[in-house]
Amino acid sequence: MIPEALKNFDRFQDVVKEMEICRKYGMDYSLEKGDVGKFINRYHPSSLDLRMAELIPRTLDTKTIRLVSQDGYLPPFQAGQYISVAVEVDGIRTSRPYSLSSPPNQTGYYDITVRRVADGLVSNYLLDELKPGDLLRTSGPEGHFYYNPLFHDQTMVCLAGGNGVTPFMSMIQQIVDCGLERTVYLFLGSPDLGQALFHDRLTAIAARHENIHYVPVIENPPEGYKGRGGLITGDLIQQVVGEVSGKTFYICGPQAMYDFCLPQLEHMGVPARKIRKEAYGPPLRVWEQAGWPYAVKPQDAFEVRVKGGGSFSAPAGETLLTSLEKNGLLVPSLCRSGECSQCRVKLLAGKVFQPAGTPVRRSDAKFGYVHSCVSYPLENLEILL
Ligand SMILES: Cc1cc2nc3c(=O)[nH]c(=O)nc-3n(C[C@H](O)[C@H](O)[C@H](O)COP(=O)(O)OP(=O)(O)OC[C@H]3O[C@@H](n4cnc5c(N)ncnc54)[C@H](O)[C@@H]3O)c2cc1C
Ligand code: FES
Repeated sequence: MIPEALKNFDRFQDVVKEMEICRKYGMDYSLEKGDVGKFINRYHPSSLDLRMAELIPRTLDTKTIRLVSQDGYLPPFQAGQYISVAVEVDGIRTSRPYSLSSPPNQTGYYDITVRRVADGLVSNYLLDELKPGDLLRTSGPEGHFYYNPLFHDQTMVCLAGGNGVTPFMSMIQQIVDCGLERTVYLFLGSPDLGQALFHDRLTAIAARHENIHYVPVIENPPEGYKGRGGLITGDLIQQVVGEVSGKTFYICGPQAMYDFCLPQLEHMGVPARKIRKEAYGPPLRVWEQAGWPYAVKPQDAFEVRVKGGGSFSAPAGETLLTSLEKNGLLVPSLCRSGECSQCRVKLLAGKVFQPAGTPVRRSDAKFGYVHSCVSYPLENLEILL
């Protein structure tokens, strides 16, 4: 029985006709989805094969990787979204999410801006091995860290730590390029001036556009530095932005920044519903998180049995997703932060640690699914992929 409301959609009759044709010739419409499927896939593709066009140095350890499509078309996105980059490094097939730092009005390319992480598997591969002309498989644009005019205030207060400035770069460029009626206060926390990503560009934009306010906050400022030093505190934010009402707050950066800034915002009286937080991966030292069992050491190893597919040993301090990938088992993943549900696996036996605040759908919890990207083995496990 077709719901009445569906009949009001444009091209409803075309879809019905296609379904009839599929039925007549024994095709599975749910797989083919005909013209409609093709149309939707163009806007929301699950994967893209992009070509690296350029590598642009930004700071000592950060470069922008410019990606172009092979047929000239890139799906649209919302400023603030990310793509997940799939790679094979040292025989391990894995992926990492990177925010798009170019604005959505720039339809010729996608930029991601990658910072080298010491001993990091993928960041070092992307910065050192990838060459212009190489192909890179990515997801389509994903994530919910963007401005929505229906729910969010036109004044945005953005708190960025280090590379967390990348989604804001996309948002700010779109605002100034398209003349959007929005005001942005961007606080960029950086250990020193040299590492303040996009500093010159943001300084220039703020000088030309009175609706863009850029406040670099340098933890260890050089002698005679006239700007703000130290950390992004509630007092500083209040001094610059004044009243908190009528403003939406956005945070993107390393975990330590959330730990420091969220209580400051709460103290300033910013309601939780006015604070938007970007995902930024699993905790770096999960064994120091509240609730981690004292008796379990990060290097303790447990056996993970995969129903119908062998077993391997996994350390407690590593995410189950990483251990699966290291053992040649590819699990779909996008955010690697517990948000998108792509990496869920069914826990048939044993216990995992999930950091406080890990979002798990009620239905997943009810039927025993966990997000492998933020789950750590605390016992021998049996899982179903
Ligand atoms: C939604 C989203 C958007 C992101 N956008 C960007 C972006 O625009 N630019 C960017 O450079 N990164 C971004 N990241 C982080 C990125 O996805 C990777 O986590 C990062 O590049 C490290 O991957 P790696 O394989 O090099 O390190 P891994 O091999 O995964 O980690 C190696 C070691 O470094 C630690 N580590 C991991 N990440 C960090 C870190 N960021 N800082 C310090 N230590 C770390 C790990 O705990 C581990 O011990 C984003 C993450 C998310 C969730
Ligand atoms: S990859 Fe998104 S929840 Fe695990």
